[in-house]
Amino acid sequence: MELAAPLLLPLLLLLLPVAAVASGGGDLPAHPGYAHGGEEASCGVAEAELVPAPERREEFDGGRIVDISHYYREDMPAWESEAGSGEFLKLARSMRNGSDIANFSELRLTAHSGTHVDAPGHVFEHYYDAGFDVDTLDLAVLNGPALLVDVPRDKNITADVMASLRIPKGVRRVLFRTLNTDRKLMWKKEFDTSYVGFMKDGAQWLVDNTDIKLVGVDYLSVGAFEECIPAHLVFLEKREVILVEALNLEHVTPGIYTLHCLPLRLRGAEGSPARCILIK
Ligand SMILES: *[C@@H]1O[C@H](CO)[C@@H](O)[C@H](O)[C@H]1NC(C)=O
Ligand SMILES: *[C@@H]1O[C@H](CO)[C@@H](O)[C@H](O)[C@H]1NC(C)=O
Ligand SMILES: *[C@@H]1O[C@H](CO)[C@@H](O)[C@H](O)[C@H]1NC(C)=O
Repeated sequence: MELAAPLLLPLLLLLLPVAAVASGGGDLPAHPGYAHGGEEASCGVAEAELVPAPERREEFDGGRIVDISHYYREDMPAWESEAGSGEFLKLARSMRNGSDIANFSELRLTAHSGTHVDAPGHVFEHYYDAGFDVDTLDLAVLNGPALLVDVPRDKNITADVMASLRIPKGVRRVLFRTLNTDRKLMWKKEFDTSYVGFMKDGAQWLVDNTDIKLVGVDYLSVGAFEECIPAHLVFLEKREVILVEALNLEHVTPGIYTLHCLPLRLRGAEGSPARCILIK
């Protein structure tokens, strides 16, 4: 059987939301597997009946658990792309199409798609060559108490802004909610260079003056577009800080939570999609 267990979980996670997009997503394109099913659909079965629409939830356990990952979708923004992420899921084998075993999809994503983490190899060639991939990231940093803060809406994250936030020593994980969330930038298909992120001096201030080892932000990059690489270099230089990007911080208020963030164990990859949740 080709349905190896390690593949099943990520596939299931992704398949569920896609079924909902196909039926309940308004003007979003139908899942390719269903779009091709024209012959069957003409046998008198309405499209809506073929595809049950599971509720997509952002809160679980009465709101105690909040999902802060974005679900993958074709119109999710991607780095410097006008056209969004594009097709990421393809039904390679389908029951309706003669496979008597199972529906079986293939994934095609960049390692920096949607909610994801960056490993040191993302911007340092020597770290990449030495194998500092996402599988070397410390789960003890990716999981634990985290502070969600609102940053001033009129600036990028500079050294002054960082100082003004007065984040206490000892805080190791901080999620920075910015104007990006207010502007719903992760819901805009076109990549937007005017997103808010860290300026190089803001990143340097954080590294020099705080104990923060996990930095989370609400758009595709921790670095503001004009200082994107310099900010990444500062954060990843010592291999102590883990970057989590494109978080969905719409459904939470500032405060202290338990964060769980689990990237895939993609050997050799300098980034990986991640499922991140907050527990109140
Ligand atoms: C169905 O089978 C045809 C012929 O093998 C193939 O070209 C097509 O991609 C399949 N479609 C799906 C959705 O599996
Ligand atoms: C996927 O599998 C289900 C049965 O589990 C089947 O009813 C459905 O038609 C399949 N979908 C496609 C596109 O083949
Ligand atoms: C943040 O920086 C970007 C350029 O990287 C700029 O377009 C944007 O206007 C800045 N945002 C704010 C709130 O200053």
